[in-house]
Amino acid sequence: YPQLFIFDLDGVITDTAEQHYIAWKEMAQEIGIEIDRKFNESLKGVSRGDSLEKILNLNKDLHLSEEEKAELMKKKNDAYRKLIMSIEPEDIYPGIGELLEKLKDDDIKIALGSASKNAPFIIKQLQIEHYFDYVVDPETVENGKPAPDIFQKAADELGVAYDKCVGIEDAIAGVTAINEAGMLSIGVGDKIHLKHADYVVEDTAELKFETIINRFENISK
Ligand code: G6P
Ligand code: MG
Repeated sequence: YPQLFIFDLDGVITDTAEQHYIAWKEMAQEIGIEIDRKFNESLKGVSRGDSLEKILNLNKDLHLSEEEKAELMKKKNDAYRKLIMSIEPEDIYPGIGELLEKLKDDDIKIALGSASKNAPFIIKQLQIEHYFDYVVDPETVENGKPAPDIFQKAADELGVAYDKCVGIEDAIAGVTAINEAGMLSIGVGDKIHLKHADYVVEDTAELKFETIINRFENISK
């Protein structure tokens, strides 16, 4: 039986993956780089700095100083913050509130495993802060997703063995991180993008507690 569920935030609990995309696209355009949704799949789950590097890699002729990079990241984050300013409880994806409630009822621990430094602000705005037994601060782990560090940090802090954990992710890098951590991976989104997940749902409304428990009991990794 699982003892800990670790949720990604952007694109799992709420739609902020979209706002990240809009903000990155705008920033990229300013330096003459076009990004599309397909490329964006490779940015999902990836830290701010690593995302910028991936974007800059699209134009090998650009050589920016550390200051210029810091300025671009600030620009992106300012634009992103503007977009999420008025986020509210109604923006929680379908099924997420119910799942959090069920987990609490069942005494299963809950953690947030987001790479975003904006995550504490968002869960506060969504008024779901109190559900989380632990929120990983991405600045305290050595390697970002697709490395397993963020997920393992949550389990370590709460004293739960990795094979008793379930991770929920919308990102290709995030599912890889969960798998590398030795946890059950649940993908939310496209079945082809997320085919490396142990179980995929297309929509958060399909994240049913009983089904997940069933998968957990039946999938031997
Ligand atoms: C999450 C999102 C990414 C974002 C990263 C860093 O992993 O999926 O799109 O780039 O967090 O977010 P931050 O808010 O710290 O820039
Ligand atoms: Mg995500």
